[in-house]
Amino acid sequence: MNAIINNIEIIKAKTTKINDVDFDNLKFGHVFSDHMLECNFKDGKWQAPKVVPYQAIALDPSAKIFHYGQSVFEGMKAYKDANEDVWLFRPLDNFKRLNISSKRLAIPELPENYFMDGLKTLLQVDNGWIPKKDGSSLYIRPFVFASGGGFHASPADAYKFIIATAPSGAYFSGKVKVLIEEKYSRSANGGVGFAKAGGNYAGQFYPTQLAIDKGYHQVIWTDDNTHEYIEEAGAMNIFVRINDTLITGPTSDRILDGITRKSIIELAEAEGISVEVRKISVQEVVAAAKDGSLKEMFGAGTAAVISPIAGFGYKDADYDLPELDDTYASTLKKRITDIQTNKAEDPFGWRYKVE
Ligand code: PLP
Ligand code: COI
Repeated sequence: MNAIINNIEIIKAKTTKINDVDFDNLKFGHVFSDHMLECNFKDGKWQAPKVVPYQAIALDPSAKIFHYGQSVFEGMKAYKDANEDVWLFRPLDNFKRLNISSKRLAIPELPENYFMDGLKTLLQVDNGWIPKKDGSSLYIRPFVFASGGGFHASPADAYKFIIATAPSGAYFSGKVKVLIEEKYSRSANGGVGFAKAGGNYAGQFYPTQLAIDKGYHQVIWTDDNTHEYIEEAGAMNIFVRINDTLITGPTSDRILDGITRKSIIELAEAEGISVEVRKISVQEVVAAAKDGSLKEMFGAGTAAVISPIAGFGYKDADYDLPELDDTYASTLKKRITDIQTNKAEDPFGWRYKVE
């Protein structure tokens, strides 16, 4: 008999890979835990999810994921505190956003209990894989894709929802230099930019590689219509500090409604920092860099948490940001990670105990 926890059946792996993992030197998303959650949509409904050994997936070559790119995903983290308690950060927001993304890609939405009970059970089974070291966590990747086949360009009749996890260290190491994009766009009005759709990332790789070839690490995406407003930093939302005001663009059809972004806005306000949510023009950022009022720029997202930007390129000129001792980026990164890892009070009710 297989074990059942939270109504989820568990098929245990026969062996563990955990002894091969160097938990003191973790890269990001490079090694994968022993189990995954698997749930299939067929006959018009999601079937009960199961925890199964982490394994390759066999798909028909006509599966629509390969041809028409019906795929969405999420990014979350689990943290283990000094008492070995396990925590998630605003997980219901990831669940809701996964369904928002699915709806836009004509993928059937998941029931909340399959996502939440499935995730909790997976974390209980692979508890030993959740790192305790500062700066490390278990990166969680829920994703849904079209497994049903056929060359007709229409939504599939079968889907898979999987949660795979990877004990991970920092996403970026060292200083991040970015290029403000003048030609390519990651999203457009009426498009899928607000969804975490796999294709959004595929479309970023080529322009990002062009930026890397020029010596930058990431692209700052601008609006597709005029390229005059900055919108996102690679796969992160972007914040700019001019004098003592922290500014981030409003969410829209084109921008992912980041959970880190909205938490940073609340945390900054609670710290007494003046925050503006409004469009940020490239001209404003360039002018502020020239007159010295541009103090900080940083990206915010689950994987990288807060990633300070050391400088940016625009129209063949490079601009360096000052190296300040006390930054909003470091204050806010400490505030959010202390809440995530149960080192500080959580007045917002964001932390979620896995039990
Ligand atoms: N923007 C994009 C395009 C992303 O891929 C991500 C990563 O998830 C974010 C922003 C940040 O969102 P979150 O803070 O919810 O991880
Ligand atoms: C995240 O921040 O979790 C992301 O999904 C970014 C990513 C594409 C690695």
